[in-house]
Amino acid sequence: MTRRRFVRARDADKERYEEATLLCTDRRRSHPHFFPLDPIADGDRFDSRLLDYGYRRWTDLFNDRQIFHLSLLAEGIAEFDEPVRRALAVAFSDHLTTNCMMTAYAASWRRLTPLFSIRAFRHVPRPVELNPWCDGTGRGTYPNTVRKLMRASDFARAPKEPVKKGGFKSVPLRRSASAPNIVCATAQDLAFVADGAVDMVLTDPPYFDNIAYSELAEFFLPWMQLVGLVSENDGRERIVLGSLIARRNDAEATTRFTAGLSDAFAEVARVLKADGLLVFSFRHAVPDAWYALTIALARAAFRATHILPAPGEAGVGLHAHEGTGLWDAVFVLRKGRARNDADLRVGPTGEAHVETLVAGWTRKLKRARLPFTDTDRLALRRAGLAAVALGLVGDVPDHDGSLLQDALNASAR
Ligand SMILES: C[S@@+](CC[C@H](N)C(=O)[O-])C[C@H]1O[C@@H](n2cnc3c(N)ncnc32)[C@H](O)[C@@H]1O
Repeated sequence: MTRRRFVRARDADKERYEEATLLCTDRRRSHPHFFPLDPIADGDRFDSRLLDYGYRRWTDLFNDRQIFHLSLLAEGIAEFDEPVRRALAVAFSDHLTTNCMMTAYAASWRRLTPLFSIRAFRHVPRPVELNPWCDGTGRGTYPNTVRKLMRASDFARAPKEPVKKGGFKSVPLRRSASAPNIVCATAQDLAFVADGAVDMVLTDPPYFDNIAYSELAEFFLPWMQLVGLVSENDGRERIVLGSLIARRNDAEATTRFTAGLSDAFAEVARVLKADGLLVFSFRHAVPDAWYALTIALARAAFRATHILPAPGEAGVGLHAHEGTGLWDAVFVLRKGRARNDADLRVGPTGEAHVETLVAGWTRKLKRARLPFTDTDRLALRRAGLAAVALGLVGDVPDHDGSLLQDALNASAR
């Protein structure tokens, strides 16, 4: 495997590709309903790069041979009975990122890098195309993706947990009393959950303007509709435009984001038991993001009870560059009282508490495998200030504190 290398496409390879193009053209005529036609919508895009690159339809991100494969496979999957059909459709969706023209090759790793290994549509000048039917070797081929799903299913039947000194140990299978209910919908309306019914909400809210997830996920939408994972009604309107995302230096977008996030947290407060917990992680490089988060929590009447750093994913990903934070801040909150934006204050006791907290974690994480950098310290300080404004060390009398926004803005100095 270490001797893998690029070879130039020979005439025979090119002929086979041309043959696939002809077959694909014929099939488009004979089986039009197995080809998505959806255009890439040009309005309301957070990131216009796809259109700037000249892509107009979602299928433009695949070459003819890949489209031909996907169309045939979609038809094949439709013939299976449930629940196998659905599982095969999930694998289908999963293998799109490794079988498209935004699939690159990381020469130093000697492996393929899927679309979204960087959370963006990045132009790949030299895409790689795998044989999607390679079995065993080849990242993200269809058989290997099916196998990945089978491993997940095995895990669900015989779960394991990581142990501190490395490796995994088997843990007992815990079945909940009622059947799990997975709902794909906006967090701003949890009408399907009764008031005061939930012990803990463990979530991962959007990080202000960091990544337009739903815009990226739009890539999957036409195909998921084709293989029946998403209904035709669940189009862009609901999935993409209903997502919360702010834009830096855009007051209107920030107001919309804050209001939407507040609605989502208000729903969390409604469904939580009186002593229920809300736990989530957050990170961001600009004070405005922390401020928006705090306002949303304050309006929804949450009180912070704990704050701590936890390793984030950027440390291991291609996003990491110098100055990138490697740790997220974890918030633990309980139901409290609603606060106005003007009530969000940080007093001297709170400031001192935050400094002690940051210093304590800096000491504790000195020898951590994942470095706890200056960027991480700043993020934890901002999380701490937000938590103080949300009552972490008791309420701050108005005359005694500075406004949270000012404290956040001053935090980098
Ligand atoms: C920080 S990401 C979570 C990523 C996730 N933990 C993962 O590992 O894939 C925030 C997520 O919130 C979703 N989101 C945005 N607006 C939403 C809304 N109104 N309701 C529910 N989810 C929303 C985004 O699409 C995105 O997937």
